[in-house]
Amino acid sequence: MKSEQLRKKFSAHFGREPEKIIKAPGRVNLIGEHTDYNEGFVLPCAIDYCTLVAVMKRDDRQIQVLALDWSDETDAFSLDEEIKFHPDQMWSNYIRGVVRELKLRGYPVQGCNIAVTGNVPQGAGLSSSAALEVAVTVALVAAANGSISETQSKDLQLDRLTIAQIGQAAENNFVGCACGIMDQLISSSGVDGHALLIDCQDYQLTPVVMPDELSIVIVNSNVRRGLVDSEYNQRRAQCETVASHFDVPSLRYLDEEKLQSGKAGLDSTALKRAEHVIGENRRVLSMVSALNKGDCVEISRLMAQSHESMKSLFEITIPAIDQLVSIVASVIGESGGVRMTGGGFGGCVVALVPHDRASDVADAVEAKYEHLTGLKATIYPASPSAGVSLI
Ligand code: GLA
Repeated sequence: MKSEQLRKKFSAHFGREPEKIIKAPGRVNLIGEHTDYNEGFVLPCAIDYCTLVAVMKRDDRQIQVLALDWSDETDAFSLDEEIKFHPDQMWSNYIRGVVRELKLRGYPVQGCNIAVTGNVPQGAGLSSSAALEVAVTVALVAAANGSISETQSKDLQLDRLTIAQIGQAAENNFVGCACGIMDQLISSSGVDGHALLIDCQDYQLTPVVMPDELSIVIVNSNVRRGLVDSEYNQRRAQCETVASHFDVPSLRYLDEEKLQSGKAGLDSTALKRAEHVIGENRRVLSMVSALNKGDCVEISRLMAQSHESMKSLFEITIPAIDQLVSIVASVIGESGGVRMTGGGFGGCVVALVPHDRASDVADAVEAKYEHLTGLKATIYPASPSAGVSLI
């Protein structure tokens, strides 16, 4: 439906049918928060909420963009001039950042017309921006008749890791968020029906099948995420301070024992941040075993510990999110798990719920959340999906 609408709007605006349509998914992270930029482990899955990008080559050196979900706003810039940050149209910067990054890396980018739409909730911590970066990267490759390849090269045959790295670099160097690789890598590399264990040290990807008896339920707190980038960058800097205190490249090289025995001279906040990351890495690996065994009691325990650690050690949850987690936990008990997902300070919680309890979760959220917080939550049932593709 959305892709038909995209095709029509594209044709009406640019006067011709698009040549290609690319679809890139958002993601939900099951466990492993703020571990990616510490060379740790994460366990996200791509979801069936996607960004769609339609593209057609132009004869000149312009990039022209139509954004259907931002009131049909447009953007236009030249490939022959310095690509600058757009001060009033944030969505443009994800596209500008990707184009700039491709050019910097020497890829032969061509002038294009682009139209963007999608159904990944924006600003909800489900990686709508990573999905946009990944879709636009592949669109520019596809427009030049390149494709996604399994090996690395510079001739617009991009492998999935490089696609993710281009998106991440756009975010780091242009948008200004020092994010890790998780969101872009799961959007580029997701596997249908599976979560993906990502080792962010060597980018090894291990698909993990989701237990048959559990559904993924995402609940959006609808708390607008404010000051996210500055808080995020500060957490990252704190983690790096601990790594340099121990003279190691990242927190991946530390365990609880080393941390405690060498902590003299570290400030207590930085110490808490590192405790979270080290514990969270351990929990990701335990979660993989628990999912493989379908051990719901262990899944419940690990997700609860992860949430508590984000709350008290990494300090990235907020009261409304904590309320939401308690509401869901009180319904599912040890039959599934629930925790905040994503960078923090609002956004969503993710729950793994026995199929026959999903409606009880929805009812409990409906009955209690607004009363406690004055906010209405939105529920998104989700299925683990494949990474970016041409449709
Ligand atoms: C954001 C970032 C990711 C990751 C998460 C926290 O989504 O983009 O790289 O750090 O926060 O786990």
